Amino acid sequence: MQAVMNAPKFITVEGGEGVGKTTQLRLIEARLRAEGVPLQVTREPGGTSLGEQLRHLLLQKEGLAPTPMAELLMVFAARAQHVNTVIAPALARGEWVLCDRFTDASFAYQGFGRGIPLESIQQLAELVHPQTNPDLTILLDVDPEIGLERARARGELDRFEREALPFFEAVREGYLKRVKLEPHRWRVIDASVDLQQVEQQLETLLTEWVAGAIA
Ligand code: TMP
Repeated sequence: MQAVMNAPKFITVEGGEGVGKTTQLRLIEARLRAEGVPLQVTREPGGTSLGEQLRHLLLQKEGLAPTPMAELLMVFAARAQHVNTVIAPALARGEWVLCDRFTDASFAYQGFGRGIPLESIQQLAELVHPQTNPDLTILLDVDPEIGLERARARGELDRFEREALPFFEAVREGYLKRVKLEPHRWRVIDASVDLQQVEQQLETLLTEWVAGAIA
């Protein structure tokens, strides 16, 4: 019983563009390390040498853009390598995994954003990582108009960030629909408020969630 209660946790962080994900991930990482849990921090697309190369191809603005299906298969190719060589082994060693995006991003971006049927994405998820699914997913939620403004203010935009507002509205809607499907797994943070308030929301949620997870 004890071993089950103390099973290592797989935590993912999601959100549209300009939600402050990088900053908030650092905070989450620091908070988890302060709890003393062994932790592997990683990201998607990426997290392995192959994954980082695919990430480069996915984000580059030059050349012909991949078709939506090619894009989907690239994120899942990166994920197959990542789950098998990084995420699942870490969990098997008893480490917690904190991952910047995972399959929910494929539902939001390739499904809701690009229009690929959700069943196809579900089939790939079941094929690629049948046993490896997040215990907790934190959604940093912001109105895409505000998010895009922030992303643009940061400077050079990647291939995704160059999409127009309706794409990001669909992505946000996709994330919120996934929250409704599986509310117990998700925690939604209002990322439209100032940084201090976002951090406060995260602190409250982590204190409560981690206490339950390591009890
Ligand atoms: P990042 O902005 O979190 O660094 O992620 C890079 C981009 O990759 C982001 O715009 C979302 C996109 N992405 C997908 O389209 N599908 C996926 O499955 C993942 C993991 C990311």
